[in-house]
Amino acid sequence: MNTISVETPSASYTIECGRGAISRAGSLVASLAPASGIYFLSSPPVWKHCGPLLLRSFRGNIAGKSKRVAAANPVLFRDGEQFKTMRTVETLCRALVRAGADRQALLVAVGGGVVGDVAGFAAASYLRGVRVVHIPTTLVAQVDSSIGGKTGVNLPEGKNLAGAFHQPALVLVDPDLLRSLPDRQFRSGLYEVIKYGVLGDRGLFDFLENRMTQILARDRASLNWIIPRCISAKAAIVSGDEREAGARESLNLGHTFGHALESLTRYRRFLHGEAVGWGMVAAARLAVEATRLSSADARRIERLIYAAGPLPAIPAFPASRWLAAMRSDKKTRAGRLRFILPRKIGEVSAVDGVSEKLVGRVIGNVTRDAARRREGQR
Ligand SMILES: NC(=O)c1ccc[n+]([C@@H]2O[C@H](COP(=O)([O-])OP(=O)(O)OC[C@H]3O[C@@H](n4cnc5c(N)ncnc54)[C@H](O)[C@@H]3O)[C@@H](O)[C@H]2O)c1
Ligand SMILES: [Zn+2]
Repeated sequence: MNTISVETPSASYTIECGRGAISRAGSLVASLAPASGIYFLSSPPVWKHCGPLLLRSFRGNIAGKSKRVAAANPVLFRDGEQFKTMRTVETLCRALVRAGADRQALLVAVGGGVVGDVAGFAAASYLRGVRVVHIPTTLVAQVDSSIGGKTGVNLPEGKNLAGAFHQPALVLVDPDLLRSLPDRQFRSGLYEVIKYGVLGDRGLFDFLENRMTQILARDRASLNWIIPRCISAKAAIVSGDEREAGARESLNLGHTFGHALESLTRYRRFLHGEAVGWGMVAAARLAVEATRLSSADARRIERLIYAAGPLPAIPAFPASRWLAAMRSDKKTRAGRLRFILPRKIGEVSAVDGVSEKLVGRVIGNVTRDAARRREGQR
């Protein structure tokens, strides 16, 4: 078991990562400060896979320690990007009221990034804040979304536009939970893994290049190496910059374009990681001109993204709609487009005021190439 620490001005907590972590969930949660009740928040498919295992680990550990486990009735809600809304947060908060959750309640969010982001936001706002433990069950959630305390929901106008920073009390990562994850969801997580390689870890990038076949086959040894490495990277970044005043911004590599793609397609066509995959292709091409990324490195980045599997084609949208979508992204400052761009593999920087003409040209190229790749795969 790896124990990785996050220390931010608002909270300190650990991420426990390793095979079988889920069977220790009960004892690890029992070691936190006492709660008046424990409330599981999850989605029906995730709970079907993980619920019984989790409940088994809670029995015996919590019972008898005066903590009520409201487990017989976990609060289940639909995940998927289109359910990451204010309405779902309201549904959860109301279910918590009905279940009798008070300020000393402890929420346990079990699921992918959508469950984690929504349950985390509910935890941040319910009675002005209750504790939450994350048990991430997708690759995206294990390496990224469960760590760092960003919670929130989408608005029709854009991705993640309402939310709060709310650090968890504990994060439990069990790579074995990924076994039931559908292939497309698994690959979606790999794009976020590739992101860590490009933004700051050449060794990880090389490993991914060399072992993609084994990784796609979910080789245990590879995953047990990759997952804690990404978690450590994220833990270090958010420990140094909880509120995204500086270094944390680097995690947005591929996300300016990716978020625009998700919102233009109404969160239905692309999985989050897939949109980020295309976002990194666009970032690499922009970077060749904007930050003098070498063409050789840009090609390696693109090749690695394509090696993780097929990406859905990008529908044609007029440049004006792309630009409007990118301007409503949180990263925009004073209406000027801001991108995180690689300088070389393992190093990125934030670039302001990239010319709209260049952005439009790159989007056109990426969209055309995406269509061509799609045809080639038929
Ligand atoms: N808060 C952050 O810092 C942060 C970082 C990265 C991504 N995100 C957010 O995370 C979201 C994407 O998360 P995601 O990719 O995990 O998608 P998701 O939460 O929608 O889950 C994907 C699908 O996999 C299913 N699933 C989950 N675990 C499973 C398992 N073990 N076995 C079988 N099926 C399982 C779910 O039911 C769902 O249908 C996006 O909304 C993104 O914005 C947030
Ligand atoms: Zn992301």
